[in-house]
Amino acid sequence: KHSPLKAAIGGRSVDEITGSRRLRRMRKADWSRRLVQENHLKVDDLIWPIFLVDGVNVREPIDAMPGVERVSIDLAVKEAERAAKLGIPALATFPRVDGARKDLTGSHILDPDNLINRATRAIKEAVPQIGVITDAALDPFTDHGHDGILRNGVIVNDETVEQVAAAAVMQAAAGADIIAPSDMMDGRIGAIRDALDAGGFQDVAIMSYATKFASAFYGPYREAIGTSGLLKGDKKTYYLDPANAAEALREAEQDLAEGADMLMVKPGLPYLDIIRTLKNEFNVPMFAYQVSGEYSMIKAAAANGWIDGERAMMESLLGFKRAGCDGILTYFAPQAAKLLTA
Ligand code: PBG
Repeated sequence: KHSPLKAAIGGRSVDEITGSRRLRRMRKADWSRRLVQENHLKVDDLIWPIFLVDGVNVREPIDAMPGVERVSIDLAVKEAERAAKLGIPALATFPRVDGARKDLTGSHILDPDNLINRATRAIKEAVPQIGVITDAALDPFTDHGHDGILRNGVIVNDETVEQVAAAAVMQAAAGADIIAPSDMMDGRIGAIRDALDAGGFQDVAIMSYATKFASAFYGPYREAIGTSGLLKGDKKTYYLDPANAAEALREAEQDLAEGADMLMVKPGLPYLDIIRTLKNEFNVPMFAYQVSGEYSMIKAAAANGWIDGERAMMESLLGFKRAGCDGILTYFAPQAAKLLTA
């Protein structure tokens, strides 16, 4: 049977070309696709970042993050109850600190009754079974929006580390289960570990924002915690250059040597290669932070009818699993959990 088209591909049949290997065979039906599915997203993989604000019964929408709100502590407790019911293992809290409380050194982070610490106590009292992860970075508390103490235009590393470590101990005292420092100062992990141990908090874990890149994708978050108008300059002297992968490996290695229990890569989607590299290299618990800008991109495209928002959400979360993540910090957590448990 002579066919001119077959002649055009060299006269060989597809079976001759593939050696009878046909990868579509197992894709033919839903049951067979399920059978060979390699990676699975579970509710257990989700960590939900929530934004806190002062007051009672306050719920404030965040323009750049449709569907995400800042909530007062009483409502954060309700959200924690909802999350626990959905099976979400842990929350990560981020405060919008009142401008009058901010100063050059972010000293209010050391107030045991600041918004983060009060929220941790309230959540752990009402919903003890949910994990609470707190960030010990200074940016919500400084009047210049940087994650460190700013002197003469320089972010001063060692002084910042002392303050971050002291803040971590206070967060642990308030009941935080995991300290997740996002400031990228050198030596912070070791200093926090020492301070926690000295304070009797040997059981409090450290999730290092080991590779946090100087990214444009944090924009909506800065609106959420009210630092966008404050930030002078950029964070390139302490966050990683998006061009650097070998340096990311060195950061992760250093943080593990200093005592990090878990590593995080942030942002997520543009850095899946880093996740895979770190997982292969160290085989420790790996997390990704699907940051505000990643969330908002999907929401914005979906709101315009350009993509199917729900499918894009689930596909992006599964991508983190495939890249080697054990868990994902995502603003989609409750929405994804609902789909996963339906
Ligand atoms: C700063 C911090 C950032 C985020 C959380 N903590 C980045 C920044 O403002 O520079 C970003 C989270 C997000 O975008 O969702 N310590």
